[in-house]
Parts: sequence; C-alpha cells; structure tokens
Amino acid sequence: MIKVAVIGYGVVGSGVVEIIHRNKSILKENTGEDIEVKKILDVRTFPQDKYGYLVTSDPDEIFKDPEISIIVETMGGTKFAYDYSVRALKSGKNLVTSNKEMVAAHGPELLRLAKENGVRYMFEASVGGGIPIIRPLTLCLAGNNINEIFGILNGTTNYILTQMKETGKSFEQALKEAQAKGYAEADPEADIEGYDALRKIAILSSVSYNEFVDYKKLSCQGITNITSDDIRLAKEAGYSIKLIGYSRKDGAGILARVSPMLIPEGNILSGVNDVFNAIMVRGDFIGESMYYGRGAGKEATASAVVGDIADIVKNPGAVEKSLWDSQSEKLIDPGETETVFFVRYSENGVKRWLITEKVKEKDIYKLLEQKGITAENIIRVME
Ligand code: HSE
Repeated sequence: MIKVAVIGYGVVGSGVVEIIHRNKSILKENTGEDIEVKKILDVRTFPQDKYGYLVTSDPDEIFKDPEISIIVETMGGTKFAYDYSVRALKSGKNLVTSNKEMVAAHGPELLRLAKENGVRYMFEASVGGGIPIIRPLTLCLAGNNINEIFGILNGTTNYILTQMKETGKSFEQALKEAQAKGYAEADPEADIEGYDALRKIAILSSVSYNEFVDYKKLSCQGITNITSDDIRLAKEAGYSIKLIGYSRKDGAGILARVSPMLIPEGNILSGVNDVFNAIMVRGDFIGESMYYGRGAGKEATASAVVGDIADIVKNPGAVEKSLWDSQSEKLIDPGETETVFFVRYSENGVKRWLITEKVKEKDIYKLLEQKGITAENIIRVME
C-alpha cells in the first residue's frame, strides 16, 4: 500500500484526492499497487467534505509519518510551500507539485535536495495543466536536441481572448468566468500580466536545454493592453490574438519571452481556444511535435499530478538526472531579433491597422516614425 499526503486542499488538491479515490482500481491496474490518501494538510476545516476527515493542520502528522512516502504540494505560491517542499524532501519523501512558481524559482535547489535524499521531485502538472509535456521532453524526446519550444501556456488568458473574439464579451466578464471555472491563479494578475506563462516557458526551457533558465531575466508582456479593437482588426486581417510563450536555443544563446501575438488563421495555434493549451516542440530528430489539452482546471491538473504519483510508484529509485545546476548566461537581447508587427492607429477618428515588414524590434518606432504613424498598440505577428 502506497500512502500519499496532500498539502493544500484547494482546487487542484481536492481533485487529486478525488481521482485517487474514484479511480483506485485503474490506478492499481496501472501501477500494481493500492494507492491511498492518508492525510491532507490545510489550515481550514472541511466539515461538509467527503474527505474532510483526512484534513489536519499539524504538519508533523505528515512529515513524521514513516508510512507516507509521497507528498503532493498543491498550495501554490512560495511563502509556505517552499518550507514544506524542503521539509518533505529532507524527510525522504517523494514530492509531486503543480506549483509552477515554486519550480521556476527554486527548481535547481529542490532537484538537488531530491537527489541528495534519494527521492523524486516531479512537476508534470506545473506546465500545461493536464497535458503530458515534462515527461515527453525528459524521456520520449531524450534522443533529441530540442531547439525550439513555444505555444499557448495559460488557460485563463486563452479563455479571455477566445471569449472576447467569439462572443464579444468584455475582458472583465471573461476573466470573472475563468475565475469561476477555477482556471485563474489566486491573484489573476499572474495570468493576465503573463507571469504565469513566463514561469512555464522558463520551466520548459530549463527541462529542454538542461540548464536553469531564470524567468526573472526574461521579457514578459501580458494581455491587459489588448482591446476589443485589436481583436476585431486582427480578425479582419485574418488573425487571432494569443498569448504566446516562446523559447529557442541556437549558437547565439537562448531567446525566451512571453507576449501577445497575432496568429494567422491557417496556423494550428489559432484554433486552440478557451482553456486549451498547445505546445509545439522542435527537436533535431523528431522535427515538429505538438501537445494539446486542457491547460488549467481542477480535473486536468489533478490528472497530471496523479500521473507523477503513478510514475514514482512504478519507478521509485529513478532520481532525476538533470539538476539544472548550470545557469543560462547567454540570453539573446529580444531587441536584436527581427519580427513582423501589427500596428493599430487612428486616422481621422477611424481605427486602422497595418502589418509591417520584418524589422529589428528595437527599430520598430523608428520605422513607424518614417511612415508618419502614431501607434495606439503594437503586437508581434507569428509568421
Ligand atoms: N492559472 C493557470 C492558467 C492555471 O490559467 O493556465 C494552470 O497553470
């Protein structure tokens, strides 16, 4: 019998408990073991909840229990979750998380601690909700040099942009709906300002290139300056607007960033709507491959957590090899890269747009000055 503890009984944590109970027999068939949630740590009580009797507010009941071999951290944030993560690994417990902030900020330290203690630190659920992407990158594509990875990495903003385009809903209304569906972060600023997607592209880059890519050094732009005029004019020009996390590595270094982009209607990413995420990976032998699914929400994210639990049960001693112990020094200056831009401007009170030629990003304002255009918004275009 494998005993699991869950730290943080919120949206994802409660989904994990539910899957383990409801799909007990399929998990046994898949792993050969009975898996059970023994305790849940939370400062709140849940008297009406079916599994409320498992909740404790005393961490010692988990960390000092030798029967518990796997701890799931679904608290989010780094304030309390960091201490619990370190304590879990130092206590010789395997640790599974959906907490992208934690992985992006403390991944190297937690991977090293896991190795030192002979346990696993797994974070499939930290990127792409339910989409299997970390395991494909580390295992299935292990024979490739991954040189490019990009896509739609945030469910909340994709939901908002889709609703604004398809139904004409306001930004605020669509955000409220995304929150009600359990997609958004506790503080949705992380979603709409792009920080959540930035952490995810940093994690994907670190996993793909086997070196730590620090999200704090990357450029980030969210969707708060996207207006319904931008969405309408982009649609008129044959594009959808998506929040894109982008990363590539070549001889010059790594370019990684998050920004809104216009995606041509013929591009597969333009049809990725609502909460769905899609991640494109380019490797030297696989060529291009794509991963698609629900990028946020209770069930999908909990599914990825439970997949990591099953992996630990089946491969208990398989400590991660890459510790991201070197830090990426060579980050390419985005200003030096060449991009096509969509420019919104007004002429005699009428909103208009143009698509520029390819231009060095640092030169876009010079180009618009030459054309005599005062831009109201400038958005990158994916070719
Ligand atoms: N707030 C995140 C999103 C949750 O909307 O994608 C999943 O990581």
